[in-house]
Amino acid sequence: MVRVVLGVSGGIAAYKAAEIVRGLVDAGASVRVVMTPAATRFIGPLTLAVLSKNPVVADLWDSGSGAVDHIELARQTDVLAVAPATADSLAKLARGIADDVLSTYALSHRGSLVVAPAMNTWMWTHPATLENVALLARRGAVVVPPGSGDLACGDVGPGRLAPPGDIVAAILEAGRRSKSLAGKRVVVSAGPTREPLDPVRFLSNRSSGRMGYALAREAALRGAEVVLVSGPVALEPPAGVRVVRVERTVEMQTAILAELQAADALIMAAAPADFQAEAPASRKLKRAAGVPELRLAPAPDILKSVREQRKESTVVVAFAAETEELAENARRKLLDKGADLLVANDVSKPGIGFDADDNEVILYAPRASRDGVDEERLARASKAVIAGRILDRVASILAGKWPAPALR
Ligand SMILES: Cc1cc2nc3c(=O)[nH]c(=O)nc-3n(C[C@H](O)[C@H](O)[C@H](O)COP(=O)(O)O)c2cc1C
Repeated sequence: MVRVVLGVSGGIAAYKAAEIVRGLVDAGASVRVVMTPAATRFIGPLTLAVLSKNPVVADLWDSGSGAVDHIELARQTDVLAVAPATADSLAKLARGIADDVLSTYALSHRGSLVVAPAMNTWMWTHPATLENVALLARRGAVVVPPGSGDLACGDVGPGRLAPPGDIVAAILEAGRRSKSLAGKRVVVSAGPTREPLDPVRFLSNRSSGRMGYALAREAALRGAEVVLVSGPVALEPPAGVRVVRVERTVEMQTAILAELQAADALIMAAAPADFQAEAPASRKLKRAAGVPELRLAPAPDILKSVREQRKESTVVVAFAAETEELAENARRKLLDKGADLLVANDVSKPGIGFDADDNEVILYAPRASRDGVDEERLARASKAVIAGRILDRVASILAGKWPAPALR
């Protein structure tokens, strides 16, 4: 059963919340309605209480029977849906303002967020509103965009609340996704590794770890138990994720292999070094001794060792960062390494990939039905959004919906 908090804010479309509640209850969802004080001027809480079969909360300070502990409610909720979402409530959600019961609840909510904006066209197209919506979408919120048509204010244009049926469908879909990895153990690797040249210097790369951290966070949000094997990065670990910190490629390999047998999915978003110093100096190399000659040796091939030791049932996702011939290299890597999914990104493009907030990737998967690989392009989006799409694929492979890999 999907557990929904429906946030209703104060717009003319608030009366349509009744239809949304009915649709959710009919679909078997449990619904708690939280209203802003402004929303209560447009629709009576009693209507929504009767339809949702639960008390409605509209006053942060009400200690009566309808009072909820918003932290406790957050523990029991899969999806927060704000519909209709006013320009004001979108601004609060985007910026973290908590001055009424809905916006306060929103800050404690850890599950999925769906917003269905509705407002006058000029309010909707104001740069402030557009920025707030874009910010929410970057964080992974599902935006059910308003439609165009006659508005209550007499204008014609975009701003009408999307049809309640579409909003219900988006909420149920978010609820299904929020549990798609429940009970699964997901191991994610992230960040670069460092290969020492001497006690103070190392070889490394530009990986920031952001893609791996986004994957770990999104996997935890979808109910997975997550282990994050992380190289040295400057990021806060996501809540509820166990972090194993490593430095060298060989340490990353050991940590991943130690987690592999218990893993339902292994997502290798890290950028471990391909080369290491053949013989790192035990003392600091001195300038006065002249330019040192560095001899490099291959670093351990983590993916190869994973291929040798993995269980058939573990879903393995590999990443390929390429600067040229992306498709050819990615396809070869997928087939060579026996991964179930390969995420390829072109790290020579500005604004995406290494050390960027955004990514734009191509997913390759082996196809059972024919030789070769199946390809899906994900347009440029925040790493949170891209992580969600990758995990949707992982969840469907785990659920057996996606063709099992033909080549391993
Ligand atoms: C008659 C009337 C209709 C309104 N309709 C909308 C609307 O559709 N969308 C919106 O964003 N604001 C609308 N507003 C403005 C909001 O009610 C106002 O910004 C309020 O502060 C929103 O509070 P809330 O976000 O806490 O619910 C309307 C105001 C009035 C008086």
